[in-house]
Amino acid sequence: MIIRTENEREYQEVYDLNYQAFGNREDESKLVERIRTSEGFVPELSLVAEMDDRIVGHLLLSEATVEDQEESHTVIVLAPIAVKPDMQARGIGSSLIQEGIKRCKDLGYELVLLIGHPSYYPRLGFQPARPFGLELLQFEVSDDIFMVYEVKEGALLKMKGELKYPEAFF
Ligand SMILES: CC(C)(COP(=O)(O)OP(=O)(O)OC[C@H]1O[C@@H](n2cnc3c(N)ncnc32)[C@H](O)[C@@H]1OP(=O)(O)O)[C@@H](O)C(=O)NCCC(=O)NCCS
Repeated sequence: MIIRTENEREYQEVYDLNYQAFGNREDESKLVERIRTSEGFVPELSLVAEMDDRIVGHLLLSEATVEDQEESHTVIVLAPIAVKPDMQARGIGSSLIQEGIKRCKDLGYELVLLIGHPSYYPRLGFQPARPFGLELLQFEVSDDIFMVYEVKEGALLKMKGELKYPEAFF
């Protein structure tokens, strides 16, 4: 399996993959399309997992902000992630996330935040965000599913405030 940057020729395949992985609904496929045409899109952070010349997984990481009264910090949000239904639970999702985090580090981003399943992401190093002074008000979510990964040591000490998902997410 190879994890690499998505290219434009694969947009339809990635659309179909998200559609299938999310139970034949278009919401996440459309979200990917909106993020790709938004300011927060970082091409190197749209990753695909390829196996035998077909795309079996996709991960999109993009820019958002954490804001307090004085400052606005650029952070990364993880959404969506999708693995082909017949290829799930083989480590593909984990490999995509690990490579995504490595790339975030290389690009100088300090935090990755997400809303996700509390039994999946903690094994990859994510932890509940609210105890670190991070807040999410745009979506009504419980403490255990709003999570953060500290890419740069010390970032959680200095970045506090409200996570603001960009317009593309709505
Ligand atoms: C979530 C998803 C990306 C994980 O990818 P994956 O390649 O299947 O995951 P991995 O192989 O790395 O990890 C497998 C483990 O995750 C668990 N897992 C998979 N999907 C899960 C989910 N939605 N919630 C909780 N746990 C999940 C599996 O049970 C397995 O656990 P085990 O190791 O204890 O057996 C994939 O299952 C998927 O595409 N699901 C449908 C779309 C979705 O829900 N995306 C996430 C929301 S943005």
